[in-house]
Amino acid sequence: MKVLISAEEISRELAAMGKLLSAEYQGKDLLMVGVLKGAFMVMADLARQVSIPVEFDFMAVSSYGASTQTSGVVRILKDLDQEIAGRHVLIVEDIIDSGLTLSYLLKSLTVRKPASLEVATLLLKEGIQRVPLAVKYVGFRIGPEFVIGYGLDYAGLYRNLPYIGVMEGDLG
Ligand code: IMP
Ligand code: MG
Repeated sequence: MKVLISAEEISRELAAMGKLLSAEYQGKDLLMVGVLKGAFMVMADLARQVSIPVEFDFMAVSSYGASTQTSGVVRILKDLDQEIAGRHVLIVEDIIDSGLTLSYLLKSLTVRKPASLEVATLLLKEGIQRVPLAVKYVGFRIGPEFVIGYGLDYAGLYRNLPYIGVMEGDLG
């Protein structure tokens, strides 16, 4: 296991992102929507860097299971608790890989008529999105490698690592 992005680098980046969000959403009715489970850590740390009034909600969607390959099948396991019509909604993601999860989420939230809908992600795997996506806030652009830690799992494990790591060797 190799450290790709250290806890210090993550914390610096989220501080900058939080500052930017606080400026851009000044005077707006911001609702940050975390995508479970992976985004729980980004959400907690990013939220503490946002200095304007903000509400939180969470959605849970199905992920890869124990495989490291995307299935392309997205299932909503938990929907939002509140209505988002007229709200400024910011989806908070841990990682965008194929982009299929996000593309599905954007579609399903757009029809609910939010005042605005943007995406903040800690990680973006560069160049492998299968669908074109406009992601406004990106922490780090990384290669196609499978990463773990800081909310990201492999077979349910490693989410608690305080940094982003790459597993070396064959993951199957
Ligand atoms: P998508 O391929 O963009 O739809 O990503 C689906 C989901 O797969 C993400 O939200 C993550 O939960 C998970 N995922 C994608 N790439 C990785 C990775 O490198 N490590 C751990 N989980 C990942
Ligand atoms: Mg995710």
